[in-house]
Amino acid sequence: MSILASAQLQDRDDQTTAPGARDPRGFTLVPSTSSERLQELRVERSVVAAFLDACAEWPIQALEYKSMLRFRVAGILDELCEGTLRPRLANILLDRRQGALQVVPEGLDRVEQAEDMVKFATAVAHLIGRSNFDAMSGQYYARFVVENVDTSDSYLRAPHRVMELHNDGTFVEQVTDYVLMMKIDEQHMEGGNSRLLHLDDWHELERFCRHPLAFSEMRWSAPPSKNVVRDVFHPVFDVDRDGRPVMAYIDQFVQPRDLEEGNWLCELSDSLESSDGVISLPNPVGSFLLINNHFWLHGRDKFKAHPQLRRELMRQRGVFTCGSTLRARQG
Ligand SMILES: [Fe+2]
Repeated sequence: MSILASAQLQDRDDQTTAPGARDPRGFTLVPSTSSERLQELRVERSVVAAFLDACAEWPIQALEYKSMLRFRVAGILDELCEGTLRPRLANILLDRRQGALQVVPEGLDRVEQAEDMVKFATAVAHLIGRSNFDAMSGQYYARFVVENVDTSDSYLRAPHRVMELHNDGTFVEQVTDYVLMMKIDEQHMEGGNSRLLHLDDWHELERFCRHPLAFSEMRWSAPPSKNVVRDVFHPVFDVDRDGRPVMAYIDQFVQPRDLEEGNWLCELSDSLESSDGVISLPNPVGSFLLINNHFWLHGRDKFKAHPQLRRELMRQRGVFTCGSTLRARQG
């Protein structure tokens, strides 16, 4: 049986999963208009306001200094949703057929509320996981700005080109189960949609994951701005706990050993970029995407140039505490 056939069989087996998923309280959940796989989770304004009120005594610095407070704010948010938010989040993120959310906290949509945005996103992330240390910022999250002129050493902040589809955490030793990408500010923006691709919507998945190089160890290293000094070694593909393919891939930081590896990687990149399965969607200020990093790839469309172009983003990446996609933890 092929990997994909067994994955489809597994999908049928999964139809019954949803333990503990009671009717939502304080939020709504509907499939996104961009893709049935992506769920739009809208948190009611009254819940967002009550959450911020209950967390007002802790400035963002308190959450930076004390890891335990990140779980306290998570607990407060879940209580406000009468315990219905946490199981929903876990079910969606671990479900191979979905694995992605766009979270819209109502009333949280102005750059002046940036710290509140980070607090709210922290609460959601810590209902399903624990954020990794982000070496680029030295914190458990990173805020960064994209402007019209870019002087950095990767495409993260480069506005006038596409950021190709990739997974996060490919050049660090920590497992990266989830990626959370929040929009904090946007000025004079045209274009720059988020791009997403679910592995099972990639028409050539089977072709690439069956290639002899698919499971062969490759070297991954990052430029200086990432503050990661040691190279890591792993293959592009792995299989999850149910034997379905997952990926750990980024075009910019893989260091192919020879002509064969280099050309296979270029073909893989071309195939991903041209896939019909890629979805492109705007992520409004205050909203965030939360995806399973093992079977979703993400990227960004280019922006139209403007001298006052400004976009500010916040990211958190971490490990699941609500379950697991991978077959075994490394370390
Ligand atoms: Fe990324």
